[in-house]
Amino acid sequence: MVTEMTSTQDRTNIQAKTGKNIDRVDGRLKVTGEACYSAEFPLEGIAHGYIIQSTIAKGTIEAIDTSQAEQLPGVLAILTHQNAPKLNSLKSKNFGGGYPGENFLPLQDNQVHFDGQHIGIVVAETYEQARLAASLIEINYDEAEPMFDLEQALEQSERYDPGERLQPSWGDIEGGLQQAAVTIEETYTTPLEHHNPMETSATTAEWHDDELTVYDSTQWVMGTRGMIARGLGLPEEKVRVISHFVGGGFGCKGFFWTHPLLAAIAARKVNRPVRLMLTRQQMFSSCGHRPRTVQKITLGADNEGKLTAIRHHTDTETSFVGDHAEPCGNITKMLYACPNMEIKHQIARTNTGTPTPMRGPGETSGTYALEAALDELAVKAGIDPMEFRIINHADRHPQSDKPWSSKHLIECYQRAADAFGWQNRDPRPGSMREGDDLIGWGMATATYPGYRFPTAAKAQILANGKVIVSSATHDLGTGTYTIMTQIAADTLGLPIERVKFELGDSKLPIASVSGGSSTAASVSPAVRSACEAACFKLIEMAIADNESPLHDYQAEEITTEAGRIFVKESPEIGETYEAVLQRHNLPLVEAEISPQDKGSRYKSIAARTKPGIVEDEGGSDEFAIHSFGAHFVEVRINPRRNQVKVSRVVGAFDVGRILNQKTARSQIYGGTIFGIGMALMEETLLDPHSGRVIIHNLADYHVPIQADIPEMETIFVEYPDYHLNPLGARGIGEIATAGIAAAVVNAIYHATGKRVRDLPITPDKLL
Ligand code: MOS
Repeated sequence: MVTEMTSTQDRTNIQAKTGKNIDRVDGRLKVTGEACYSAEFPLEGIAHGYIIQSTIAKGTIEAIDTSQAEQLPGVLAILTHQNAPKLNSLKSKNFGGGYPGENFLPLQDNQVHFDGQHIGIVVAETYEQARLAASLIEINYDEAEPMFDLEQALEQSERYDPGERLQPSWGDIEGGLQQAAVTIEETYTTPLEHHNPMETSATTAEWHDDELTVYDSTQWVMGTRGMIARGLGLPEEKVRVISHFVGGGFGCKGFFWTHPLLAAIAARKVNRPVRLMLTRQQMFSSCGHRPRTVQKITLGADNEGKLTAIRHHTDTETSFVGDHAEPCGNITKMLYACPNMEIKHQIARTNTGTPTPMRGPGETSGTYALEAALDELAVKAGIDPMEFRIINHADRHPQSDKPWSSKHLIECYQRAADAFGWQNRDPRPGSMREGDDLIGWGMATATYPGYRFPTAAKAQILANGKVIVSSATHDLGTGTYTIMTQIAADTLGLPIERVKFELGDSKLPIASVSGGSSTAASVSPAVRSACEAACFKLIEMAIADNESPLHDYQAEEITTEAGRIFVKESPEIGETYEAVLQRHNLPLVEAEISPQDKGSRYKSIAARTKPGIVEDEGGSDEFAIHSFGAHFVEVRINPRRNQVKVSRVVGAFDVGRILNQKTARSQIYGGTIFGIGMALMEETLLDPHSGRVIIHNLADYHVPIQADIPEMETIFVEYPDYHLNPLGARGIGEIATAGIAAAVVNAIYHATGKRVRDLPITPDKLL
């Protein structure tokens, strides 16, 4: 629909495939095992690495004895701070500050800052040889007194200051509390948690002279390329990062950790490709976690249930070698209308690994506390929890006073409540039963910013009738391959079988991190623009060609559909893409869209639309851009076993246009499951004496399995958001995680009358 792209009317003319329930185009590759993950590239002469980790949480390495390990058969090299190359600082003006994750450089000195710190790498002919050798290395430490206790650390340790953006306040909080007819003040805690994607992180590094290729399990090939290049002092063009498939990331593969650098220096040392796979145990100390939080919430509401004051103070932690601020209050300042607000975050440094974003960083931990507290206040005020939220609906962004780009939260409440049967709820705790089981119904609001990051894409229309579209983005199992194929196919009017979408390679046009649920909203417009631009080149060629039936027509008179370009008014006058190319003896025509191409000559809407991103606000200059939703949850609790079973979940979500019903729904299911895990199971424990992670496998770190998850009903209220991009899509994924834990907690209160304010709610806490 190339020339029509010049008119805004076309925005709604999304055609055949976009939005449909199309199976994953990469599904067959995955189920047949043909999809090649980072640890699976079959490179000639590959050697295997194994990480050596510290066994103390703080101190100095005094001596490392590798003599026994070196004598083992197959051992090729052992790198420690004693013989590792000097690396360059990873900090830059682009990557400075807290993100990305960890700026820590491995093997540069003898200092230990947390248990499990990477302090060396063994390379051997086989993985087993490397692992055995690592176990035989003797290390003497001068151990110092570590700091793990959060309260104690806030008193005595260094702090990380996240700056003013995390400390907003307005109005008069004390005055607001005095006006209140009901108030609550409670403290909510969340434990340290780990991402635990099915695919553990892995890097395979291969040098060709001074050029490095890295197969890495990452949510950000461009960022990983930049960090490796900087660390090794190489120009970025000399480093290529490939990540075709990622077996889940949830944030732990979003930023940069030490293992890609270790694989790269090891490969250089042994002059062979090196594969470095982290074990499940190592995942608990090598690539971040969600930090512990202690959140004190004070709320006041007047006689009508209107909020008069919200105070949300978060105490949390980061490490000594990286800055992460879990921004729990970010949602609090935008979710409800309230004239008096006070948000604070205090961050202590502890001897743990560096935390990193995990499944809605800040949104998830923060909405848990806020939405649980709101339930308590609603009960105290004697108002139905959903009604209470509607009373306090924010018609504009409460802090910036900007209008929302598109907000249909009240419809989400109502549609989810109707589907759930909320009107049949008896509000008295413990009043609903079935047999011995106590039944509890709870609800909460979901929200997540609508992010869009600058993204480039390339489209190639081939003389053989196929189309290849590419961008250096990622598919974390979320469906990027599929939805981008749908969009390209629709833009060019082709069946999806004729379109191939390529991603996960830093050689492709630049894309951003696949984090912040941003990929669909960021990459879709670039894909559409690139396809339009390539097609426009064909139209120009045809117009200029006196052998073409379109010779001497104006571009504005021509459109495209079903793989043909033709005259709008007389569709029989036209030809196929292939015919144009074949006549010109061209193998293909291609066009690349870069984020700077706003207002380029083919005047595509997508190319002209400005990415609407401002810091963590999820807003543009004119609009605040957020997705919204509502979760309704039923729990069943056998009072003798105190075991909570989530038996029903209904959610309604306002996430803009849905690009693929099936993958979108899967995103919501995944986010919901994360929330159920957070509410009931997930917790990483540190040994209070040594600071060692003592829960470090999936037998002890419980995540929901099939039997824990009920049928889920997901409703999309589909209002395309054209302020974010011309396809009207906002991201999905993290929104479903935000709020769901509170809905479970609120349902548990309704079933039992007990308020548990410390996650996860394991059976012992309900005794
Ligand atoms: Mo995510 S926690 O934005 O990768």
